[in-house]
Amino acid sequence: MTQNREQTLVLVKPDGVQRGLTGQILARIEAKGYVVEDLKMIVPTREMLTQHYAEHEGKPFFEPLVEFMSSGPVVAARVSGDRVIEGFRSLAGSTEPTTAAPGTIRGDLGRDWGEKVQKNLVHGSDSTESAERELGIWFG
Ligand code: PPS
Repeated sequence: MTQNREQTLVLVKPDGVQRGLTGQILARIEAKGYVVEDLKMIVPTREMLTQHYAEHEGKPFFEPLVEFMSSGPVVAARVSGDRVIEGFRSLAGSTEPTTAAPGTIRGDLGRDWGEKVQKNLVHGSDSTESAERELGIWFG
């Protein structure tokens, strides 16, 4: 069988930390068999977030997203496992928590809060290139 061991960056966003869901989110990651290799809690700077979300600069949600992400502590995790990049995004569910599939983190734990900003609990890198770049930003 082909092995495809990867690493990804998972963020528990400020809404997840504030609602006390960090433990549940990490438990779901571990229950699926992925390994949390490194973990930290920080309030990210605007500069870090501008780098992190560089591909979205200029989109209408960019400013509210950077504002929201710097509004409080974020838990960053370096997570490893075979096909973990794809696997974690599947575990997270689609962007909008209201319509994310039940069984996913966003589908089970998130909802719309009537705000412009999408409070969707988690972030996961979307490719090996993004994972490498993002892990560099958050873990150096
Ligand atoms: S895109 O344009 O298709 O690439 O957008 P998408 O992949 O769905 O989302 C990219 C990131 O932007 C976040 N997002 C938002 N944040 C706040 N408010 C609004 N309205 C919004 N729309 C999209 C989305 O959660 C993605 O961030 P991460 O951190 O990767 O989850």
